[in-house]
Amino acid sequence: MSDRLFIFDTTLRDGEQVPGCQLNTVEKIQVAKQLEILGVDVIEAGFPISSPGDFNSVIEISKAVTWPTICALTRAVQKDIDVAADALREAKHKRIHTGIGTSDPHIKYKFNSNREEIIERAVAAVKYAKRYVEDVEFYAEDAGRTENEYLARVVEAVVKAGATVVNIPDTTGYCLPQEYGEKIKYLMEHVDGLSAGKAILSTHCHNDLGMATANTMAGVLNGARQVEVTINGIGERAGNTSLEEVAMILKCHKGIGIDTNINTQKIYPTSRMVSSLMNMPVQPNKAIVGRNAFAHSSGIHQDGVLKNVQTYEIMNPKDVGIDDNAIVLTARSGRAALKHRLSVLGVEMDGERLDATYQEFLKLADKKKEVNDDDVLMLAGADRAAAHAVKLDYLQVTTGMGVKSVACIGLDIAGEKFEASASGNGPVDAAIKALKNIIKRQMVLKEFTIQAISKGSDDVGKVHMQVEYDGHVYYGFGANTDIVTASVEAYIDCINKFKK
Ligand code: KIV
Ligand code: ZN
Repeated sequence: MSDRLFIFDTTLRDGEQVPGCQLNTVEKIQVAKQLEILGVDVIEAGFPISSPGDFNSVIEISKAVTWPTICALTRAVQKDIDVAADALREAKHKRIHTGIGTSDPHIKYKFNSNREEIIERAVAAVKYAKRYVEDVEFYAEDAGRTENEYLARVVEAVVKAGATVVNIPDTTGYCLPQEYGEKIKYLMEHVDGLSAGKAILSTHCHNDLGMATANTMAGVLNGARQVEVTINGIGERAGNTSLEEVAMILKCHKGIGIDTNINTQKIYPTSRMVSSLMNMPVQPNKAIVGRNAFAHSSGIHQDGVLKNVQTYEIMNPKDVGIDDNAIVLTARSGRAALKHRLSVLGVEMDGERLDATYQEFLKLADKKKEVNDDDVLMLAGADRAAAHAVKLDYLQVTTGMGVKSVACIGLDIAGEKFEASASGNGPVDAAIKALKNIIKRQMVLKEFTIQAISKGSDDVGKVHMQVEYDGHVYYGFGANTDIVTASVEAYIDCINKFKK
């Protein structure tokens, strides 16, 4: 009989902490519903005390999903726990995730405390959270760099206090797989209550040295029965362990004898949805969900795969939801085909919203032969821009070899029309200078990334931008078949986010 591994998804908490990945409540609900379809056991929906937005999102996600446990993060502080319990009031299954740093650097520099006092605070927090919910998870922050003997004392104390899950985060992504595996093994062997099944251990690994998935698997092989993961591995700094990697490792290596509840065919649509809503591109060679993950380019590999896919493929792309036979959308595709494709990608649309998206789809399909999944998701997100106060009305740029680029731009600002022109060192420079002739603020372009075009010169180009204004950095995104327009749209996206 195989063992069950619980999947704790923290895309909406650790993942959403990444600068530029912030979602509004409606988008978070969309992701949460997709995570439910994917089959995750726990959704970490936010850190309610951190902002009214996070608080509200936890409430709304709690209402929107049924089966997964909804989890809210807190520090080991009573006020945090009160607010988290309040945010979870609508959840059908709820969990409070509380914790404190346990490594020497955390104890000394963060808390100016000592080991005994930290255990007391950990126990007090778990007991306090237990007044609100039965299911309490404790995290020992920086457990990766916490001495095992002391960590075992912390874990034993919080299990005694009522913790149902104890999270052993490798917060800094420092551990080697063997070291992390041995840590879990040590705890399994030395903590009363774990072997008796009073609580389970959870992994939470960061990818600073590229070892997050290896460390997670080492933890699982040594007894952890929950893994904390994110879609596409997004998360603080180099990210977290990616859900898709753990799920497919266990599916490919049946001999390990551990199952999850993940419907792996929903992996790809979920990955596309998260990437699109968070404007976070997936690296092309990313395991499982990258554009090249199943692309065989060398002649030898192609020859082998054509003879028999087993020569070079360890998993079937269909098992992760990549459907080669998916209907290709073109200018001749109807509204129903678009609705179906959106639904496969996890976006349900009807009525006026579908009509508006279909009109945009037709415009795009006129410009490019085939509309792919990225384009469809981009169109689905385009209606977010409709609510913006500043909108691009038109853009005309004259450019070429040996001449200065000149741009004329028209903006609609809260219903009022503005026009300006400028010349510059290239089409993007000219267009942004023209834009700045209307929006006269001290804005500095900090980062400008053009995402690789996947297929054909008619494809949609995607631009990610960071603009500094009034001491804050704002992240913007634009997508268009014209890369200069995409750049201006990304800049305007930043402007729309400025704090007034
Ligand atoms: O990485 C970490 O330690 C965390 C905790 C808050 C669980 O994200
Ligand atoms: Zn983390």
